[in-house]
Amino acid sequence: MGKTTSHLRIIFLINLYLLYSHSILTIGFDDQLRTTPETDLRVGESSGRFKIGVFADLHFGENAWTDWGPRQDVRSLRVMSTVLEHESPDFVVYLGDVITANNIPIANASLYWDQAISPTRRRGIPWASVFGNHDDAPFEWPLEWFSAPGIPQILCPVANLSHSGQEECGFKGMYRVELMKKEIDNNIQSHSRNGPKDLWPSISNYVLQISSSNNPQKAVAYMYFLDSGGGSYPEVISSAQAEWFRHKSQEINPDSSVPEIVFWHIPSKAYKKVAPKFGIHRPCVGSINKESVAPQEAEMGIMKILVKRSSIKVERQLNKNFNTISKVDVLHMAVFVGHNHGLDWCCPYWKLWLCFARHTGYGGYGNWARGARIVEITEDPFSIKSWIRMEDGDVHSEVVLS
Ligand SMILES: *[C@@H]1O[C@H](CO)[C@@H](O)[C@H](O)[C@H]1NC(C)=O
Ligand SMILES: *[C@@H]1O[C@H](CO)[C@@H](O)[C@H](O)[C@H]1NC(C)=O
Repeated sequence: MGKTTSHLRIIFLINLYLLYSHSILTIGFDDQLRTTPETDLRVGESSGRFKIGVFADLHFGENAWTDWGPRQDVRSLRVMSTVLEHESPDFVVYLGDVITANNIPIANASLYWDQAISPTRRRGIPWASVFGNHDDAPFEWPLEWFSAPGIPQILCPVANLSHSGQEECGFKGMYRVELMKKEIDNNIQSHSRNGPKDLWPSISNYVLQISSSNNPQKAVAYMYFLDSGGGSYPEVISSAQAEWFRHKSQEINPDSSVPEIVFWHIPSKAYKKVAPKFGIHRPCVGSINKESVAPQEAEMGIMKILVKRSSIKVERQLNKNFNTISKVDVLHMAVFVGHNHGLDWCCPYWKLWLCFARHTGYGGYGNWARGARIVEITEDPFSIKSWIRMEDGDVHSEVVLS
């Protein structure tokens, strides 16, 4: 064993120790929470608001065999904690690329997934997650493992007659279904779902209701979650998913009187059409526009449905004299995506808003300062507002989306 190999081995042992000891602490806390009833998603009685924190592109487990990678994960934990302390959201959305599965040299990717959700769980905040293109990507063997220092020994036990080492060295990772099942089974605050089977291989397709503060039956808004693919299959929202959305929204919100917000990971091609050219100017609002939109591979109908749905929204309002009813067209729908770490703007597209989140993790490409998009829904009078909360506590890019 060369010097470098033993060095790597020690680093890996320390990392595993840190990871496991941390998990044990958070799992212990979960056990206490298991007995409490599941929190309803309700507008706060005193605040009149429902606030959502969006954590995008955390990329836990990146370069997991080095000391650099796990250090990034610790920094990502700090970003999330800071945002949660400043904003105290009622709900958190994990907007995909929670982990970098193509970098994780162990079979149990849930270990890293679990790390990523721990700041939210520890504070007793409910959350939901969708998948990105890295969450179930197949392991990519680092080329440097085939140079002189070799594969870090701790990962691949030396083969002998009774033990091929195949299992430990496969690093097959976990498919979407397994990852999601682990999250749901282990966490009472998780509102994630393995969506309808006829939509598989896309998994994170579901809808959650935000209820009125004084009436749990009354919906104030719906949150839709869609799996935009990538990793183990193409980066696309399928025609079947679009149909599912159309049916579901017709069923629960036929006259589209209740506002809908939609979360998925990879921007659709429509984002390319509205992207600001150089600086970000009104009506777009944001602070970084540092790369071009990397959209899904194809457009299979979801955008057409969303545009059509948002444009039929009409609100009846009394005028100042309380005697005439006027119809007012309103922007009632917004889509939130991650994926592009160098973009954080919101731009209107027909009658809906297309927004990027903000790169939250230290994993993943780019060194733009980390932060999180916040979405705040006020019940009466209804409004959706959004802004970005940075790691250093700074707030910017506030925009009214309704
Ligand atoms: C994988 O990790 C999860 C989350 O930490 C844990 O609950 C589970 O027991 C682990 N599974 C195995 C086989 O180690
Ligand atoms: C074979 O390798 C496995 C895994 O490293 C080890 O547990 C086992 O003791 C070894 N068996 C022999 C006969 O060396």
